[in-house]
Amino acid sequence: MPLNTPLIVPSVLPADFAHLGDEVAGLCAAGVDRIQWDVMDGVFVPNLSFGPDVIASAREHSSVGFEAHLMVVNPDELLWRYAEAGCELLIVHAEACTHLHRTLARIRDLGVRSGVALNPHTPASTVAHVLAETDLVLAMTVNPGFGGQSYIRAVEPKIAELRRMIDDSGLPIELEVDGGITDATIAGAAVAGADVFISGSWMYAHAAGKTAAVDLLRTTAAAASTETAAVS
Ligand code: DX5
Repeated sequence: MPLNTPLIVPSVLPADFAHLGDEVAGLCAAGVDRIQWDVMDGVFVPNLSFGPDVIASAREHSSVGFEAHLMVVNPDELLWRYAEAGCELLIVHAEACTHLHRTLARIRDLGVRSGVALNPHTPASTVAHVLAETDLVLAMTVNPGFGGQSYIRAVEPKIAELRRMIDDSGLPIELEVDGGITDATIAGAAVAGADVFISGSWMYAHAAGKTAAVDLLRTTAAAASTETAAVS
């Protein structure tokens, strides 16, 4: 079953990089559950972003945990650096891991939680044999590399398949979605079975501010998953 209360997690990509500490503190004040750092290497995705030292510099400004979404081709080389920078959850892409089972085990050996991400085209079956090694599965709802893209609704059947796999496993695995999450798209992902929601550009652009944005996303997701539970 999905978490009782949906988790709302901002992506820092739209933030003012000249004031990252204040931005992180502002997100905590808005009531977010943790903060996602989109780590891009310019190879796995055609964009560059946060090195571990940047994340470490923002750590003391946050009262919530950090997750690193590693959009990199060589995650094994970098895991310890992001754990050391203060990330309590490290998410690697299945498409970048030749030895995914070993990489997920290595993350846990560092004393942090593990996660595996799937690009929109990657089937759910890719994680069928590593569910016991992961604490989270991330279904990308955009092709990774940039914020502000449109939500890919065609991913929802895969989210539902992942939800069934996780429920059948009986393991406490979070099911996260990322990309194009707004007040108009979050319900579809929640009905499909997601329980953790990343939002970047929509949350930052929300006219009523971040606190109102977080509340609206959480209540919309909670209402949608409650409705689903009632009919199933
Ligand atoms: C894209 C990143 C997402 C992105 C989300 O590669 O993984 O986290 O920043 O931003 P929005 O909500 O604007 O799609």
